[in-house]
Amino acid sequence: MSYPYQIKSLEEYNSAYKKSVEDPEKFWADIAENFTWKNKWDKVLEWNFKEPKIKWFINGKLNITENCLDRWAESQPDTPAIIWEPNDPESHRRKFSYKELLLKVMQFANVLKNNNVKKGDRVCIYMPMVPELAIAVLACARIGAIHSVVFGGFSAQSIADRIQDAECSLVITADGAYRGNKTIPLKAIIDDALVRCDSVKKVIVLTRVRTPVSMIKGRDTWWEDEIQKVESEGNPYCAAEEMDAEDMLFILYTSGSTGKPKGVVHTCGGYMVYANYTFVNVFQYQPGDIFFCTADIGWITGHSYIVYGPLSAGATSLMFEGIPTWPDAGRFWDIVDKHKVNIIYTAPTAIRSLMAYGPDFIKDKNLGTLKVLGTVGEPINEEAWHWYHENIGKKKCPVVDTWWQTETGGIMISNLAGVTPQKPAHTTLPIPGIQPVLINEKGEIAEGNNTSGNLCIAFPWPGMLRTTYGDHERCRMNYFATYDNLYFTGDGCLRDENGFYRITGRVDDVLNVSGHRIGTAEVENAINMHTGVVESAVVGFPHAIKGLGIYAYVIFNGIHHDEDLTKQDISQTVARIIGAIAKPDKIQFVNGLPKTRSGKIMRRILRKIAEGETHNLGDTTALLDPAVVEEIQKGKL
Ligand code: PRX
Repeated sequence: MSYPYQIKSLEEYNSAYKKSVEDPEKFWADIAENFTWKNKWDKVLEWNFKEPKIKWFINGKLNITENCLDRWAESQPDTPAIIWEPNDPESHRRKFSYKELLLKVMQFANVLKNNNVKKGDRVCIYMPMVPELAIAVLACARIGAIHSVVFGGFSAQSIADRIQDAECSLVITADGAYRGNKTIPLKAIIDDALVRCDSVKKVIVLTRVRTPVSMIKGRDTWWEDEIQKVESEGNPYCAAEEMDAEDMLFILYTSGSTGKPKGVVHTCGGYMVYANYTFVNVFQYQPGDIFFCTADIGWITGHSYIVYGPLSAGATSLMFEGIPTWPDAGRFWDIVDKHKVNIIYTAPTAIRSLMAYGPDFIKDKNLGTLKVLGTVGEPINEEAWHWYHENIGKKKCPVVDTWWQTETGGIMISNLAGVTPQKPAHTTLPIPGIQPVLINEKGEIAEGNNTSGNLCIAFPWPGMLRTTYGDHERCRMNYFATYDNLYFTGDGCLRDENGFYRITGRVDDVLNVSGHRIGTAEVENAINMHTGVVESAVVGFPHAIKGLGIYAYVIFNGIHHDEDLTKQDISQTVARIIGAIAKPDKIQFVNGLPKTRSGKIMRRILRKIAEGETHNLGDTTALLDPAVVEEIQKGKL
């Protein structure tokens, strides 16, 4: 097996890029030819960014699981599709060949059918990182149900919001999840969420930790019992539903600068082609390589680079249930050694945290099989980049710094491992088909090199979002209304003297905490739910491990017993409303917040204070009460 569209040299990159800009339709059609279609498209692309309307491979018919499973089950049935490493290194590892995975997926697809799930229905998946999670995702895709995976760290309230927004009819979960030495009661959290979700008719519960759970008659059913039922029916086959290229494949909720998280919608055809193309090219995957993406399938990185990208390429994807620091900080390197991993893809936060534990955890590990290292999710600082390159890659593995977003479906700006140049802390060059544009403060296009601005994309690519679920206007406002005819990413960016891109971070009210995306407004709303809170303002501050930490300024009425405990109460409230990932790192009680005369909080000032700036707070003349600033500065944590 080989990938005819895999770029092998800088010259090939340059010519692919040129072709992708001069004739994008031909460029993407040539790539799409390498997939299994039930019916070819009649037209490659229709688009405008005004509405927006984006359609790729019009009238093309396919099922993504035939591309991820059937074709490989036929041509390379025994190649491992998924290798699974459990939380506990001593417990049983599992492996699924393409042939086995296809059977498991068809079997669970039949379970979904038995539970009345039909094409177009929405299914919420809230599971640990076990193979059954990937099986559940693919089984939905098999029958044309739309999956909405919710990360296992979100609270009951967050799950309920997502289930209600998408009106899911079925939930797939497990009794609990192992995370290091902790057990998380997933089913109990789902039970709390479902109090508010009338649309859910069925809950399928996988046994993972065998913790006692409630099982409600008529609604809840065990995964294992359902499998037994289909086994006794004796038909292991489940046809792949014919999907239009533009039918929805999944919804994934992500935070924006305002309001509740929005459901980013990806469709079957374009997403598949784009996830595959970027996987094959960025990581320079070679058949037989073992690819280890450390993300959770609850995030876009897991969707695109644990499930759909690798499997659509017939690759071997390693899936890990646990955390990088348990039983010790050598766990990733242990996995690389044990499974002879060739490509590892992780987040800068993980790198910084493991770096802080020192070199002892790497010492005895054989990392010689590694060929490519990747990072994603947040800017990587040069120190972490060099540590990764030297200690893990032994200076012989290229590091790909991949910039992209939930909305983009796949990697957008990144070097191609060993093929295009790398530069520490720079994402470097766009993937063919991606046309980045920087817009300066005057709202004009920043031309040439050595410049900076807000990062936008000028032309559609197959993997881009199509809408936000149930609210197309929100999609337009968020991404297409800031600048005419451009997709606005929300990121600030530099273009250096070589034309390499470097992402500087979000320019809106979205924080990237440990590579997880959190809206400041969401955290404020959660803090404001606490009984004593009058008002709050949340900003990010530089954090040595997490990249950004969460700093909350809170006006509070009546401390309960003790200031410290009250702060913990507030944190608990945030964990209840959103999840532990959104807990503030610092809470400062204040008497007032810096506001303009029209009542708008001047976050810019609060951000500067949180960053430790003492003098240059910028223009404060618009403030209603400048004395507030001084008081806040005095109390800085
Ligand atoms: O700010 C950018 C940052 O992560 C944001 C997207 O977050 P999310 O949708 O959760 O997807 C993360 C995984 C794809 C972006 O707007 N980001 C992502 N990758 C990088 C990055 N910032 C700098 N460098 C990166 N390589």
